Amino acid sequence: MNILILGSGGREHAFTYKLSQSKKVTKIFVAPGNAGTQEIATNINVNPTDFESVKKAVIAHDIQMVIVGPEAPLVNGVHDFFLADNVLKSIPVIGPKKDGALLEGSKDFSKEFMVKHGIPTAKYQSFTKENLQQGKLFLESLTPPYVLKADGLAAGKGVLILDSLEEAKSELEEMVSNQKFGDASSTVVIEEFLKGIELSVFVLTDGKSYKILPSAKDYKRIGEGDKGLNTGGMGAISPVPFADKNFLNKVEELVVKPTILGLQKDGIDYRGFIFIGLMNDNGNPSVVEYNVRMGDPETEVVLPRIQSDLFDLFDGVANQNLEEKEFSVTDKIATTVMLVSGGYPESYEKGAIISGLDNHKDSTIFHAGTKIKGEAIVTSGGRVLAVTSLADSIQEALDQSYKTIDSIHFKKMNYRKDIGFDLVG
Ligand code: AMP
Ligand code: GLY
Repeated sequence: MNILILGSGGREHAFTYKLSQSKKVTKIFVAPGNAGTQEIATNINVNPTDFESVKKAVIAHDIQMVIVGPEAPLVNGVHDFFLADNVLKSIPVIGPKKDGALLEGSKDFSKEFMVKHGIPTAKYQSFTKENLQQGKLFLESLTPPYVLKADGLAAGKGVLILDSLEEAKSELEEMVSNQKFGDASSTVVIEEFLKGIELSVFVLTDGKSYKILPSAKDYKRIGEGDKGLNTGGMGAISPVPFADKNFLNKVEELVVKPTILGLQKDGIDYRGFIFIGLMNDNGNPSVVEYNVRMGDPETEVVLPRIQSDLFDLFDGVANQNLEEKEFSVTDKIATTVMLVSGGYPESYEKGAIISGLDNHKDSTIFHAGTKIKGEAIVTSGGRVLAVTSLADSIQEALDQSYKTIDSIHFKKMNYRKDIGFDLVG
């Protein structure tokens, strides 16, 4: 079977790597991919949100399954596009249709969904420019810090957490009246601030049954000690030690089951990943957000721990017999450390030559922002490489990743030297 993966990051390289181990997979194509996917699969120069070009590629390469990495094609309706097309409709797409993708595409929708189905989450109300004054009054009724979220997709930047009431009011006005995040902030969700420690749980579902994948924690800030600007993620660890059996049982009963049942009750046929961002407050889970895809760099620690054939699991999603599929996870700990371009997440240079990528026994190097230029592999993005290691303890896995990193070089390479700092020692 030939497979097409949409996307170009570390997440997609990890999917490619894991699927390439399946005997049932013949050829893997990645659109557009990166230098890492090119080494083990075939990159095709297609933009994942250009559905007509995706269709041409599917026909030209005899694709029999499509895996969607990022959220944008899902929110824009790539799965619906396939179902509406006579040639494409029999080809399974791993990822929800537009109705399910709203769990990530609209914060207002996802909050309403959680409340309707009794899923624990922060109290909230939504506002537009029509009821801005009520929004300001609602802020007055809350205690700081204030959490403001643009309803739509805002490239990971749409959440503001503010200590001052005055600032919260003026930012709300900027968002709804002056389109601070464009259309995405015409509606703003204001919610209670949740205390606790964050982690993520990932679910794969065929719409009927589900598998809970390993938990993970990512490190979002650019600076050590979790300081500085937000990034897409600077590193990740799986499993999360403070998510013990008792806590994960609560997550399954209070969050996962009502989410799957809620989708069914609402008539949403959801086939794909659900990434549940959680707050653990003294052992009680509360949902911070849903994403309708896997996380990046979380995928780079979650997939290497899955021992089952990933294609088999996707086949189960496609044929709605996921329940029958074998699913096992190693007890080993996975860590990943992101190597980024100097300057990221602000402006940075591209095109730096990367050296030292070969012959690493202790780690798997997943490419994110890389491309092939002549004979060389060069940087082509802010997040460049994710260096993943598996070991018996967090510390050992981190030591392996950092040892591997010692021999990798590119101009202005930057990385956090303290991934897992809150979990070890
Ligand atoms: P989101 O895009 O909803 O994941 O929000 C981005 C980040 O903001 C989350 O990963 C949390 O760190 C933080 N955050 C969002 N909502 C809340 C909340 N209600 N209370 C505390 N922190 C939050
Ligand atoms: N690492 C967070 C995300 O993928 O959204």
